[in-house]
Amino acid sequence: MQIYFAPMEGITGFVCRNAYEACFPGSIRKYFAPFITASSRKALSNKEIRDLSPENNTGIHLVPQLLANDVDAFVQTAERICAYGYDEINLNLGCPSKTVVTKKKGAGLLAYPKLLEEFLDGIYTYGEKNGICISIKTRIGMYEPEEWDRLLALYEKFPVSELIVHPRLQTEYYEGKPHTECFERALSKSCCPVIYNGDLFDKNALTQFAADFPQQETVMIGRGFLMHPGFSDRQMLWRFHDAVYAGYCEQMQGDTNVLFKMKELLSYLQVGIRENCVREDEAGGLSGETDQVDRQIAKQLKEIRKCKTKREYERAIRMLRQF
Ligand SMILES: Cc1cc2nc3c(=O)[nH]c(=O)nc-3n(C[C@H](O)[C@H](O)[C@H](O)COP(=O)(O)O)c2cc1C
Repeated sequence: MQIYFAPMEGITGFVCRNAYEACFPGSIRKYFAPFITASSRKALSNKEIRDLSPENNTGIHLVPQLLANDVDAFVQTAERICAYGYDEINLNLGCPSKTVVTKKKGAGLLAYPKLLEEFLDGIYTYGEKNGICISIKTRIGMYEPEEWDRLLALYEKFPVSELIVHPRLQTEYYEGKPHTECFERALSKSCCPVIYNGDLFDKNALTQFAADFPQQETVMIGRGFLMHPGFSDRQMLWRFHDAVYAGYCEQMQGDTNVLFKMKELLSYLQVGIRENCVREDEAGGLSGETDQVDRQIAKQLKEIRKCKTKREYERAIRMLRQF
């Protein structure tokens, strides 16, 4: 199975990607960068340039992503991005956030089929002319799973290089079970490669998915790799944590900024940290000790959330590691 690393705004920037690659070299076929909002006027920000620049992404296959609903803005921004040597742009048709959706962008654009078609027509004309592949990361609709067939039929009209499907509606955000039957319909109807994305949180989930879809070549994983880095063990979890921390300390000024990033990462890592400490009793059930350790971990995580300096953080993390 080939694995893509999902884009997560605010989390999977180049520091996180490089740390992941250092810990699990070669395990990710493509990393997707968090979205850049397309603009016909504005140049890329320094932060965006740093995230995309090849020297910050050595040995990594990175795909930049755009949030857009306007052909001119898409083209102008794609041009600026491709100047750094990229030849694939991913279009974000999945972002469920209210501020994005009300602007008819991300998953919000899915509710406007005519606007979406005109937009896709314009950007694929540009892509074909300029040798730029355009892949799509999409939800299955805004309100109803019934929207999906119409969307699939629309995507079929364009040379979509890859279709990454997060089979949820905009209104579902990240809740409830993914509509895997919609993903199956994409597999049977779509001519382009279809990639599954959603809720593959650990090795078991991936194994189950591979058993359910034995033909599937590629999946995209996001939160799962932040909860259980590399779907590996406790030692690798901490190695990843340390690599991210070292990266932020090198790249960011001020303890507050570094700690803000680390606390966000820990909100995912804590899942793996807690699972790793599960102790079994003699009968193979969960021991009372597990409950106690879990409570201690929860308490220590609370302490970490209160840390204000790197020194406090480092000390609190050292204690957390002992469980
Ligand atoms: C905090 C956060 C930020 C995200 N940022 C982006 C983004 O910039 N672009 C995008 O296409 N998807 C974004 N997503 C969605 C993820 O890429 C992915 O589709 C989603 O988390 C489901 O996959 P998972 O269950 O493997 O995590 C974000 C999700 C989260 C939770």
